[in-house]
Amino acid sequence: MNAPLNPAPLIELATAYWGSATLVAAVRLKLFTHLAAGPAPSSMVAERASTDPVATDALLAALASLRLVQKDGEGRFANTPLADTFLVEGRPGYLGPAMLYNGDIYPLWGELDGVVRSGDVRRAPDQYLGDDAERTRNFVHGMHHRALGVGRAVAQVIDLTGRTRLADVGGGPGTYSALLCQQTPGLQAEVLDLPGVVAIAREIVADLGVADRVKCTAFDYYRDALPGRYDAALVSGVLHREQPAQVQAILGAVAEALEPGGVLYLSDVMLDDDRAGPTFATMFALNMRVLAHDGRCHTVAESRAWLDAAGFDLTDVTRLPAPIHYTVLRAERRR
Ligand SMILES: C[S@@+](CC[C@H](N)C(=O)[O-])C[C@H]1O[C@@H](n2cnc3c(N)ncnc32)[C@H](O)[C@@H]1O
Repeated sequence: MNAPLNPAPLIELATAYWGSATLVAAVRLKLFTHLAAGPAPSSMVAERASTDPVATDALLAALASLRLVQKDGEGRFANTPLADTFLVEGRPGYLGPAMLYNGDIYPLWGELDGVVRSGDVRRAPDQYLGDDAERTRNFVHGMHHRALGVGRAVAQVIDLTGRTRLADVGGGPGTYSALLCQQTPGLQAEVLDLPGVVAIAREIVADLGVADRVKCTAFDYYRDALPGRYDAALVSGVLHREQPAQVQAILGAVAEALEPGGVLYLSDVMLDDDRAGPTFATMFALNMRVLAHDGRCHTVAESRAWLDAAGFDLTDVTRLPAPIHYTVLRAERRR
């Protein structure tokens, strides 16, 4: 006789959001930043964070079970190395804004069935692309901290040696432009993005000390031609918002503005050619469905065909592992 099936995986899946909510709440309350000042009992953490002592104790116990804090023999809590490295404000690896961005969007996931029923988004994407100042700031700073931390690996596989003019289409916070200018002597970059986003990108680029090499220009790829001539282009994390016709239009516009022999890097979360994995990409495709009217993930095979139709030869494919999950395609504009 077969052993009875254990429903534990279902219970785990149904409650998996508890862990996300616990992490987001702790970041919102800056608990890891408060703990960086030194180990403390929950009552003292509550004092530092101006929170309820009993609920704070319960939250810290949950964080300990998630291995984000640890409790010593005297009942004092301290950050684990993971939390200390990535969740303390002011540290170079700080990922707090990326966590907060996920906190912003997780109520939308609760309406996923409605999204699938109607095929439409529940919240206008424009809210975090300029219309709502605080959501836009969380989104842009979330992208910035992600790119500065884990996203550095993307910049490391991009070789722009000898190139002088980069168009960073949908460049968001401008972090990749800044990193690429820092690693490439003689390179100037132009971040092209929606007005509310480039306003924040200008601040970030100035903070990084590269304002003289990275220009930020308001641009809408649904309406505008690229404003200059370039010998390199980056389209990173943009095409997962768009349906195939739009992807082709964007690649066509990039081809128009690139010199023959110009290099294009396309970097994004991409599905396997059978569209059944990897798991992160299938979930990310749903995330984009919740967030953008045409959100989806594409495959390398589709991208190769679109690049070819736009006048590019695909020369390289690099798959980056977790936590990046990006595939980076390198292509050259045919002469
Ligand atoms: C996920 S972000 C990627 C940002 C950055 N390239 C990166 O990889 O970190 C997608 C970007 O596309 C931009 N975007 C969305 N619609 C756009 C449009 N119509 N024209 C220009 N940029 C747009 C968004 O503002 C956002 O900055």
